[in-house]
Amino acid sequence: MQIASNGDSALRVLQITDCHLGEQVGESLAGMDTDASLDFVIELLLREQGSTPNEGALAVDLLLATGDLSNHGTAAAYQRLDQKLQPLGVPMAWLPGNHDIRDLMIDTVGPDRLPRLIRLGNWAICMLDSAVPGKVGGELGPNELDGLQSTLEALPADCHIVVCLHHQPVPVGSYWLDQQQVVDSEQLFEVLGDEPRLRAIVWGHVHQEFSGSDARLPDVQLMASPSTCIQFAPDQPDFTIDAAMPGYRWFDLHPDGTLRTGVSRVENVALDLDMASSGY
Ligand SMILES: [Fe+2]
Repeated sequence: MQIASNGDSALRVLQITDCHLGEQVGESLAGMDTDASLDFVIELLLREQGSTPNEGALAVDLLLATGDLSNHGTAAAYQRLDQKLQPLGVPMAWLPGNHDIRDLMIDTVGPDRLPRLIRLGNWAICMLDSAVPGKVGGELGPNELDGLQSTLEALPADCHIVVCLHHQPVPVGSYWLDQQQVVDSEQLFEVLGDEPRLRAIVWGHVHQEFSGSDARLPDVQLMASPSTCIQFAPDQPDFTIDAAMPGYRWFDLHPDGTLRTGVSRVENVALDLDMASSGY
Protein backbone atom coordinates (compact mmCIF):
# COMPACT_ATOMS: atom_id res chain seq x y z
CA MET A 1 0.00 0.00 0.00
CA GLN A 2 1.41 3.38 -1.01
CA ILE A 3 0.19 6.71 0.39
CA ALA A 4 1.61 9.99 -0.86
CA SER A 5 3.36 12.34 1.54
CA ASN A 6 2.06 15.75 2.64
CA GLY A 7 5.27 17.48 1.70
CA ASP A 8 6.76 18.98 4.83
CA SER A 9 3.78 18.44 7.13
CA ALA A 10 3.20 15.42 9.35
CA LEU A 11 1.14 12.43 8.27
CA ARG A 12 -1.79 11.72 10.60
CA VAL A 13 -2.40 8.03 11.35
CA LEU A 14 -5.12 6.65 13.63
CA GLN A 15 -5.25 3.31 15.42
CA ILE A 16 -8.43 1.57 16.45
CA THR A 17 -8.28 -1.89 17.94
CA ASP A 18 -10.16 -4.78 19.53
CA CYS A 19 -13.62 -3.85 18.27
CA HIS A 20 -14.90 -7.38 19.04
CA LEU A 21 -17.95 -7.01 16.82
CA GLY A 22 -20.37 -9.90 17.13
CA GLU A 23 -22.02 -11.76 14.29
CA GLN A 24 -25.25 -9.88 15.05
CA VAL A 25 -25.62 -6.18 15.75
CA GLY A 26 -25.75 -5.46 19.44
CA GLU A 27 -23.87 -8.46 20.82
CA SER A 28 -22.05 -7.57 24.01
CA LEU A 29 -18.74 -8.20 25.72
CA ALA A 30 -18.72 -7.94 29.51
CA GLY A 31 -22.11 -6.27 29.18
CA MET A 32 -20.99 -3.67 26.63
CA ASP A 33 -22.66 -3.45 23.21
CA THR A 34 -19.58 -3.52 20.98
CA ASP A 35 -21.37 -2.03 17.96
CA ALA A 36 -22.59 0.89 20.07
CA SER A 37 -19.18 1.51 21.61
CA LEU A 38 -17.48 1.48 18.19
CA ASP A 39 -20.12 3.89 16.88
CA PHE A 40 -19.29 6.27 19.75
CA VAL A 41 -15.58 6.05 18.88
CA ILE A 42 -16.37 6.79 15.22
CA GLU A 43 -18.40 9.84 16.31
CA LEU A 44 -15.40 10.93 18.36
CA LEU A 45 -13.12 10.47 15.34
CA LEU A 46 -15.40 12.57 13.20
CA ARG A 47 -15.53 15.27 15.85
CA GLU A 48 -11.78 15.34 16.49
CA GLN A 49 -10.35 14.36 13.10
CA GLY A 50 -12.97 15.53 10.62
CA SER A 51 -11.96 17.97 7.91
CA THR A 52 -15.26 19.83 8.15
CA PRO A 53 -18.13 19.08 10.51
CA ASN A 54 -20.58 17.86 7.88
CA GLU A 55 -18.37 16.34 5.27
CA GLY A 56 -18.29 12.90 6.87
CA ALA A 57 -14.65 12.32 6.01
CA LEU A 58 -11.57 12.42 8.18
CA ALA A 59 -8.55 14.64 7.58
CA VAL A 60 -6.37 11.61 8.15
CA ASP A 61 -3.87 9.72 5.98
CA LEU A 62 -4.33 6.18 7.29
CA LEU A 63 -6.50 4.19 9.71
CA LEU A 64 -4.94 1.13 11.33
CA ALA A 65 -7.14 -1.57 12.85
CA THR A 66 -4.94 -3.85 14.92
CA GLY A 67 -6.90 -7.04 15.45
CA ASP A 68 -9.76 -8.66 17.36
CA LEU A 69 -11.94 -6.75 14.93
CA SER A 70 -14.56 -9.50 15.27
CA ASN A 71 -15.40 -11.37 18.45
CA HIS A 72 -15.96 -14.77 16.84
CA GLY A 73 -14.28 -14.54 13.44
CA THR A 74 -17.45 -13.98 11.40
CA ALA A 75 -17.86 -12.50 7.93
CA ALA A 76 -20.86 -10.50 9.17
CA ALA A 77 -18.65 -8.69 11.70
CA TYR A 78 -16.03 -7.82 9.06
CA GLN A 79 -18.74 -6.61 6.66
CA ARG A 80 -20.26 -4.43 9.36
CA LEU A 81 -16.89 -2.99 10.36
CA ASP A 82 -16.22 -2.19 6.72
CA GLN A 83 -19.62 -0.48 6.41
CA LYS A 84 -18.94 1.61 9.51
CA LEU A 85 -15.40 2.66 8.48
CA GLN A 86 -15.67 3.11 4.69
CA PRO A 87 -17.66 6.37 4.97
CA LEU A 88 -14.71 7.94 6.82
CA GLY A 89 -12.96 8.10 3.47
CA VAL A 90 -9.53 7.06 4.80
CA PRO A 91 -7.18 4.34 3.49
CA MET A 92 -7.35 1.42 5.92
CA ALA A 93 -4.99 -1.35 6.95
CA TRP A 94 -6.25 -4.21 9.12
CA LEU A 95 -4.39 -7.06 10.78
CA PRO A 96 -5.80 -10.10 12.60
CA GLY A 97 -5.98 -10.80 16.33
CA ASN A 98 -6.66 -14.00 18.21
CA HIS A 99 -10.42 -13.55 17.79
CA ASP A 100 -10.07 -13.18 14.00
CA ILE A 101 -9.67 -15.49 11.03
CA ARG A 102 -7.21 -13.93 8.61
CA ASP A 103 -8.41 -15.83 5.53
CA LEU A 104 -12.02 -14.89 6.27
CA MET A 105 -11.03 -11.24 6.67
CA ILE A 106 -9.39 -11.38 3.24
CA ASP A 107 -12.34 -13.22 1.69
CA THR A 108 -14.74 -10.65 3.16
CA VAL A 109 -13.01 -7.31 2.56
CA GLY A 110 -10.28 -8.22 0.06
CA PRO A 111 -6.53 -8.71 0.32
CA ASP A 112 -5.74 -5.01 -0.13
CA ARG A 113 -7.22 -4.34 3.32
CA LEU A 114 -4.55 -6.49 4.97
CA PRO A 115 -1.31 -5.12 3.51
CA ARG A 116 2.04 -6.35 4.81
CA LEU A 117 3.71 -3.00 4.18
CA ILE A 118 2.39 0.54 3.95
CA ARG A 119 4.57 3.33 2.59
CA LEU A 120 3.50 6.84 3.58
CA GLY A 121 5.90 9.50 2.42
CA ASN A 122 9.26 8.58 3.93
CA TRP A 123 7.65 6.32 6.56
CA ALA A 124 7.02 2.58 6.36
CA ILE A 125 4.57 0.59 8.48
CA CYS A 126 5.23 -3.15 8.69
CA MET A 127 2.09 -5.14 9.53
CA LEU A 128 2.78 -8.44 11.30
CA ASP A 129 0.43 -11.33 12.04
CA SER A 130 0.91 -12.58 15.61
CA ALA A 131 -2.32 -14.59 15.72
CA VAL A 132 -2.16 -18.38 15.95
CA PRO A 133 -5.33 -20.29 15.04
CA GLY A 134 -6.90 -21.80 18.16
CA LYS A 135 -4.66 -19.93 20.59
CA VAL A 136 -5.18 -16.81 22.67
CA GLY A 137 -1.52 -15.90 22.96
CA GLY A 138 0.67 -14.48 20.22
CA GLU A 139 3.45 -15.97 18.16
CA LEU A 140 5.10 -14.67 15.02
CA GLY A 141 6.88 -17.77 13.79
CA PRO A 142 9.63 -18.05 11.18
CA ASN A 143 7.50 -16.88 8.24
CA GLU A 144 6.57 -13.56 9.82
CA LEU A 145 10.07 -12.97 11.17
CA ASP A 146 11.77 -13.85 7.88
CA GLY A 147 9.24 -11.71 6.01
CA LEU A 148 9.97 -8.77 8.30
CA GLN A 149 13.71 -9.24 7.82
CA SER A 150 13.28 -9.20 4.02
CA THR A 151 11.02 -6.16 4.18
CA LEU A 152 13.53 -4.24 6.30
CA GLU A 153 16.34 -5.13 3.91
CA ALA A 154 14.34 -3.82 0.95
CA LEU A 155 13.39 -0.47 2.56
CA PRO A 156 15.48 2.61 1.77
CA ALA A 157 18.11 3.76 4.24
CA ASP A 158 16.47 7.12 4.83
CA CYS A 159 12.98 5.96 5.82
CA HIS A 160 11.40 5.75 9.29
CA ILE A 161 9.72 2.52 10.38
CA VAL A 162 6.77 1.52 12.58
CA VAL A 163 6.05 -2.14 13.32
CA CYS A 164 2.45 -3.02 14.01
CA LEU A 165 0.98 -6.26 15.39
CA HIS A 166 -1.87 -7.52 17.60
CA HIS A 167 -0.18 -9.01 20.67
CA GLN A 168 2.22 -7.22 22.99
CA PRO A 169 5.90 -8.01 22.38
CA VAL A 170 6.84 -6.84 25.90
CA PRO A 171 5.07 -7.28 29.24
CA VAL A 172 2.50 -4.59 30.01
CA GLY A 173 2.39 -5.32 33.74
CA SER A 174 -0.70 -7.52 34.14
CA TYR A 175 0.26 -11.13 34.88
CA TRP A 176 -2.76 -12.76 33.20
CA LEU A 177 -2.38 -10.70 30.01
CA ASP A 178 1.36 -11.14 29.88
CA GLN A 179 0.91 -14.91 29.67
CA GLN A 180 -0.39 -14.06 26.18
CA GLN A 181 2.45 -11.89 24.95
CA VAL A 182 4.31 -12.83 21.76
CA VAL A 183 6.20 -15.98 22.75
CA ASP A 184 8.98 -15.44 20.23
CA SER A 185 9.41 -11.74 20.96
CA GLU A 186 13.10 -12.43 21.67
CA GLN A 187 13.50 -13.34 17.99
CA LEU A 188 11.54 -10.22 16.99
CA PHE A 189 13.93 -8.07 19.00
CA GLU A 190 16.85 -9.85 17.33
CA VAL A 191 15.48 -8.92 13.89
CA LEU A 192 14.90 -5.33 15.06
CA GLY A 193 18.03 -5.08 17.18
CA ASP A 194 20.25 -3.36 14.66
CA GLU A 195 17.52 -1.30 13.05
CA PRO A 196 18.31 2.41 13.37
CA ARG A 197 15.27 3.38 11.28
CA LEU A 198 12.75 1.90 13.75
CA ARG A 199 10.70 4.55 15.59
CA ALA A 200 7.83 2.62 17.21
CA ILE A 201 6.17 -0.75 17.83
CA VAL A 202 2.40 -0.54 18.12
CA TRP A 203 -0.13 -3.19 19.20
CA GLY A 204 -3.65 -3.90 20.45
CA HIS A 205 -4.84 -6.90 22.51
CA VAL A 206 -4.30 -5.41 25.97
CA HIS A 207 -7.43 -3.20 25.89
CA GLN A 208 -5.66 -0.31 27.63
CA GLU A 209 -3.40 2.62 26.91
CA PHE A 210 0.23 1.63 27.29
CA SER A 211 3.46 3.38 26.51
CA GLY A 212 6.91 2.25 27.43
CA SER A 213 10.39 1.45 26.25
CA ASP A 214 12.77 -1.49 26.29
CA ALA A 215 16.49 -1.45 26.95
CA ARG A 216 17.06 -3.53 23.80
CA LEU A 217 15.56 -0.72 21.67
CA PRO A 218 16.06 2.35 23.84
CA ASP A 219 15.05 4.92 21.23
CA VAL A 220 11.89 3.14 20.12
CA GLN A 221 8.43 4.02 21.45
CA LEU A 222 6.40 0.95 22.49
CA MET A 223 2.68 1.47 22.78
CA ALA A 224 -0.81 0.06 22.81
CA SER A 225 -4.18 1.69 22.25
CA PRO A 226 -7.41 1.39 24.24
CA SER A 227 -10.01 -0.94 22.75
CA THR A 228 -13.07 0.49 21.04
CA CYS A 229 -15.10 -1.51 23.60
CA ILE A 230 -14.22 -2.82 27.08
CA GLN A 231 -10.99 -1.87 28.86
CA PHE A 232 -8.77 -4.05 31.05
CA ALA A 233 -7.42 -2.51 34.24
CA PRO A 234 -3.63 -2.04 34.22
CA ASP A 235 -1.27 -3.83 36.61
CA GLN A 236 -3.60 -6.65 37.67
CA PRO A 237 -2.73 -10.28 38.48
CA ASP A 238 -6.06 -11.55 37.14
CA PHE A 239 -8.64 -10.52 34.56
CA THR A 240 -10.08 -7.20 35.73
CA ILE A 241 -12.39 -4.86 33.85
CA ASP A 242 -11.60 -1.15 33.96
CA ALA A 243 -14.24 1.57 33.92
CA ALA A 244 -12.15 3.63 31.46
CA MET A 245 -14.03 4.47 28.31
CA PRO A 246 -13.41 3.20 24.75
CA GLY A 247 -11.00 5.18 22.63
CA TYR A 248 -8.38 5.34 19.92
CA ARG A 249 -4.78 6.43 19.40
CA TRP A 250 -3.48 9.05 16.96
CA PHE A 251 0.03 9.43 15.57
CA ASP A 252 1.70 12.30 13.75
CA LEU A 253 4.57 11.03 11.62
CA HIS A 254 6.91 13.89 10.77
CA PRO A 255 9.27 13.79 7.79
CA ASP A 256 12.30 14.08 10.10
CA GLY A 257 11.35 10.86 11.93
CA THR A 258 9.67 12.51 14.91
CA LEU A 259 6.60 10.58 16.07
CA ARG A 260 4.03 12.29 18.28
CA THR A 261 1.11 10.32 19.66
CA GLY A 262 -1.80 10.47 22.05
CA VAL A 263 -4.97 8.69 23.09
CA SER A 264 -8.50 10.01 23.05
CA ARG A 265 -11.54 8.45 24.71
CA VAL A 266 -15.28 8.92 24.41
CA GLU A 267 -16.93 10.88 27.23
CA ASN A 268 -20.41 11.30 28.63
CA VAL A 269 -22.04 8.41 26.79
CA ALA A 270 -24.28 5.65 28.11
CA LEU A 271 -22.63 2.24 27.73
CA ASP A 272 -23.45 -0.73 29.93
CA LEU A 273 -20.52 -2.55 31.50
CA ASP A 274 -20.37 -5.57 33.78
CA MET A 275 -17.50 -4.68 36.09
CA ALA A 276 -17.77 -8.07 37.81
CA SER A 277 -17.19 -10.01 34.60
CA SER A 278 -14.55 -12.70 35.12
CA GLY A 279 -13.58 -13.29 31.52
CA TYR A 280 -14.38 -12.60 27.91
FE1 LIG B 1 -9.23 -8.07 22.28
